[in-house]
Amino acid sequence: MTVLVTGAAGFIGSHVVIRLLERGQRVVGVDNVNDYYDPTLKRARLARLAKLGGDFSLHEVSVEDNDGLTRAYEAAQPTHVVHLAAQAGVRYSIENPAAYVQSNLVGFGNILELSKRHQLQHLVYASSSSVYGNHTHMPFSVRESVDHPMSLYAASKKSNELMAHAYSHLFSLPTTGLRFFTVYGPWGRPDMALFLFTKAMLAGEPIPVFNRGVMSRDFTYIDDIVEGVIRTLDAPPRPDSSWDAEDPNPATSSAPYRVFNIGNGNPSQLLEMIRLIEANLGVKAQLNLLPMQPGDVPATYADVTELRDAVGFTPSTPLATGIERFVAWYRNYYGV
Ligand SMILES: NC(=O)c1ccc[n+]([C@@H]2O[C@H](COP(=O)([O-])OP(=O)(O)OC[C@H]3O[C@@H](n4cnc5c(N)ncnc54)[C@H](O)[C@@H]3O)[C@@H](O)[C@H]2O)c1
Repeated sequence: MTVLVTGAAGFIGSHVVIRLLERGQRVVGVDNVNDYYDPTLKRARLARLAKLGGDFSLHEVSVEDNDGLTRAYEAAQPTHVVHLAAQAGVRYSIENPAAYVQSNLVGFGNILELSKRHQLQHLVYASSSSVYGNHTHMPFSVRESVDHPMSLYAASKKSNELMAHAYSHLFSLPTTGLRFFTVYGPWGRPDMALFLFTKAMLAGEPIPVFNRGVMSRDFTYIDDIVEGVIRTLDAPPRPDSSWDAEDPNPATSSAPYRVFNIGNGNPSQLLEMIRLIEANLGVKAQLNLLPMQPGDVPATYADVTELRDAVGFTPSTPLATGIERFVAWYRNYYGV
């Protein structure tokens, strides 16, 4: 098993690479180490991977660069791919839509075509809870149709699922899309609320609280995400013989295709998250209450029945435990 992991310098990618190396696997990373957020943090994650001393190499290339990506696949000869490189973030997709078209659509097209050519045993790729748009039927189930994205980011992730299905159908390429729900933890993303709030609170600055704090998220701890990715990777989908074209289940297919939610299944209010950061830092937050941001949704909540049934795993890390670990990492890493 050789696993090519795109987005290896990223938050989720670096944690996935560590788990694969710990299992003794050969891992080839792909990442363009872009400056969407501080590349020093990405370099520090890569340095951490190099220190593990496993069989890891990195191709510093963009997934939309087809020649560069082709070279990476040829050097790696992967049996499996975990595709996590993407332009992430809902809000930034309003400012810089071109980045999403290039990384998430052109890049994903290249990944599919090369994965087909290399006859992969399994392509696992990151989708997102944002595909549920402003659904109010909770918890969100993969059996629901998701055709009303609220941002170009969400639309690009839903498009990935559609593109993957075409390749699973036409070329029997086994694909699994994972809809991650607000991932957090050590080595996390500086553009996400937990990181931004911790930084601002330590600096004595106010924190922006959108929708005046009336917001809930199914915060999911990084170790649970990694466990879900690894278990899924080891269990490629087979065509679903019970799939019924008269009553189509959107989450499976007569092709080797499926999508899963990976979320905690236990949403928390944003204000609860802020209280937990306060308790861990010993600092009182100054709240700057703001209206809802365009493209954002008020609530997310994952139904993980299909994930549990297929791979026997349900995320379970409580928010209090995860935030304590994040704050400890943050203080140690930044020396504050
Ligand atoms: N973190 C979350 O809460 C969350 C939620 C839902 C979905 N996701 C998805 O999970 C995946 C990983 O997210 P993350 O939180 O680790 O983000 P991240 O930004 O930390 O990681 C993405 C990595 O991919 C690299 N990258 C970006 N565009 C690239 C390109 N065009 N070519 C090559 N490399 C590129 C970046 O340099 C970065 O290191 C993404 O696809 C993201 O959309 C994340």
